[in-house]
Amino acid sequence: MQMTVRRPRRLRGDVTPPGDKSISHRAAIFNAIADGEARVENYGTGADLASTLRVLRGLGTQIERHDDGAFTVRGGILAEPSDILNTGNSGTTTRLMAGVLAGQPFMSVMTGDRSIRSRPMARIVDPLRLMGAGVDGRDGGRLAPLTFRGGSLHGIEYRMPVASAQVKSALLLAGLFAEGETTLEQPAVSRDHTELMFRSMGVEVVEDGLTVSVRSGRLIAMDVTVPADISSAAYWLVAGVCHPDAEVRVRNVGVNPTRTGILDALAMMGADVSVENERTEGGEPVADLVARSSSLRATEIGGDLIPRLVDEVPVLALAACFAEGTTVIRDASELRVKESDRLMASRVELLRSGAQVEELDDGLCITGGRALQGATHRTYADHRIAMTMGVAGLVAAGETTVQSAQTASVSYPTFWDDLGSLGEGA
Ligand code: S3P
Repeated sequence: MQMTVRRPRRLRGDVTPPGDKSISHRAAIFNAIADGEARVENYGTGADLASTLRVLRGLGTQIERHDDGAFTVRGGILAEPSDILNTGNSGTTTRLMAGVLAGQPFMSVMTGDRSIRSRPMARIVDPLRLMGAGVDGRDGGRLAPLTFRGGSLHGIEYRMPVASAQVKSALLLAGLFAEGETTLEQPAVSRDHTELMFRSMGVEVVEDGLTVSVRSGRLIAMDVTVPADISSAAYWLVAGVCHPDAEVRVRNVGVNPTRTGILDALAMMGADVSVENERTEGGEPVADLVARSSSLRATEIGGDLIPRLVDEVPVLALAACFAEGTTVIRDASELRVKESDRLMASRVELLRSGAQVEELDDGLCITGGRALQGATHRTYADHRIAMTMGVAGLVAAGETTVQSAQTASVSYPTFWDDLGSLGEGA
């Protein structure tokens, strides 16, 4: 599917993106291994979240969908799967489920699509082996397919080489099935939805600076209402601040401080984004965000800010094209091992629109102020690149075409409809 977008005269509207991907994965997986039954509302609609449900059903979890879109997860003991578990395009499903499968007394095999099979798995396989897990995979355990042969796990003290919430969560999950204490030292804070949800589900998680510990225990099932995904909201915020005549409201967005790096970065660029109706729902902070046309200035983004906006770097790079001066993004080499090499993809596709972009080993250097021109873009089978180039179409002159635009549905199936709803006037 190919989509063509033209910059509208005005951008106005009100969007509620689908349920947060990170919180949804956790709500399903944690309730599947918990004691009791729970209702999950506003579970995200993307293909990655369907992958998590498919994998859990493959392990015998009963999941019942209701007419209102909510579903019930019946938690309990997982069973040996009769077939290979397929995680599709979802890194979060793969990493988090690896932590669960490592602690089960049965054999399982997990694989995913071509992108998943090329993404680094040693980051979870190495520490899981240190915990005593029988884990293996292609290339000595560096690549999926991965195999798990249940063993008895023991806690470890582990210094994580990357600030990754997926790795942290995998090890905290394995820690639930391990004897003793599992202590992780993170290089920087990454999203803490696992820690919050474990606590709400009755398992103590001790945090001390960058250290997180958990002891073996059983989670107690908990109803979850998932807020809208700030990583999906980011596309509309950038569209709003870059378009010359815009006011875009994004409702019901999760604004957990470990995820709001995009708001901090846009504020550093002088963007007019307001946070309204702040409230707490199910232990997570939620707000409405309003983005208005802004004169942006360049900034420097790196260090501890990166894990707090890791999925938003491509769309932030687009925003930097509209900022006066040179924006430098550093410490972002993790972007090279996401669904695609997002530093390369962002550079190549923004160059097609006439932007001034250079690629660094660990980031991007973008000089703004040159008007963007519509172009034809590739998506690298990466939903975030597809959506970034869709937003480029709302703010570039002329016509923008996004090839393989359906890729957006990995996290945001209604992305193109929502994009279409924002424009007023040709
Ligand atoms: C996620 C963590 C991030 C992020 C991904 C979702 C999660 O990955 O890129 O989209 O839900 O834990 P890393 O923690 O590996 O950087």
